[in-house]
Amino acid sequence: MDSTLSDLVAQARVALAESADTTSLANAKARFLGRDGSLTARMKALGSLSGEQKAAAGRELNVAKQAIEALVNAREAEIARAQLEARLAQESVDVTLPGRGLGAGGLHPITLTIARIEAIFHSIGFDVADGPEIEEDFYNFTALNTPENHPARSMHDTFYVEGGLLLRTHTSPVQVRYARMHPPPIRVIAPGKTYRVDSDATHSPMFHQFEGLWIDEDISFADLKSVYSDFLRRFFESDSLDVRFRPSYFPFTEPSAEIDIRFPDGPLAGRWLEVSGSGQVHPNVVRNFGLDPERWVGFAFGSGIERLAMLRYGIGDLRLFYENDLRFLQQFNR
Ligand code: PHE
Repeated sequence: MDSTLSDLVAQARVALAESADTTSLANAKARFLGRDGSLTARMKALGSLSGEQKAAAGRELNVAKQAIEALVNAREAEIARAQLEARLAQESVDVTLPGRGLGAGGLHPITLTIARIEAIFHSIGFDVADGPEIEEDFYNFTALNTPENHPARSMHDTFYVEGGLLLRTHTSPVQVRYARMHPPPIRVIAPGKTYRVDSDATHSPMFHQFEGLWIDEDISFADLKSVYSDFLRRFFESDSLDVRFRPSYFPFTEPSAEIDIRFPDGPLAGRWLEVSGSGQVHPNVVRNFGLDPERWVGFAFGSGIERLAMLRYGIGDLRLFYENDLRFLQQFNR
């Protein structure tokens, strides 16, 4: 190969080695092999040579051309590999990093408790109903045998709102609403929010109750005792739970009773704990249902849901239910 040709190959080697990316590589390639490239110019010049010289020079040019092409291909492969490596390094995943976690939520313990209560009563044929939290005085008091100026009204510290309405102080108004809509026999529970002007470690201005009502032609206090005792034993999963019905007073029931429970063991063993009000529905209330109290009788109860949840889960402070502290709530994610 004459020295000008080997110089050309040497120049190409340098130019290609200096090309760091595909664009500069393409430019370098064009400088030698392109239509106006230096090697191409030499090829074109072959035309002016005589036959033998032309053949010899042509062979040399071909050797030089192949050498440059080989250099281009090699450099192309190098650049492609370098680019791939750079990309892999950038996209690499550190498999030793801790996972991000799915952060799945869970149901609130009050929601879980309501679901549990509904399932138990559903299994013995009770319907589930609800009613408005902003209630009329009539349903919250008057229809429940608690007319204006009745002393029992002071048992409830009521939140009054505009338009003569109030925040219901118990779930008992749902008894009246439901019984007026559904012909007897009636078997229903009504869980929901209730409100009273009260706030300390064991009272919250908003809390939950569930009402129960069973009306039929011959339902007695004995049915109340068996239904509610059975509910409690299933709710607390304990056959040895003691249940006591203690005489009490509510304007809408006669006779009336508070229901107390006592655990045989555990941290609360031996103490009577109140969980519900109850009683035989007062004839005046049955009349307000639109029914004849000579024929239709039955019982009702109204229980604190927070109270039941605290006893079941061993929760010491009512306020934990409303603070939304994840350390508390996550203990109920199952
Ligand atoms: N409504 C009563 C209360 O909130 C509870 C209750 C309901 C009592 C039904 C008797 C019958 O205290």
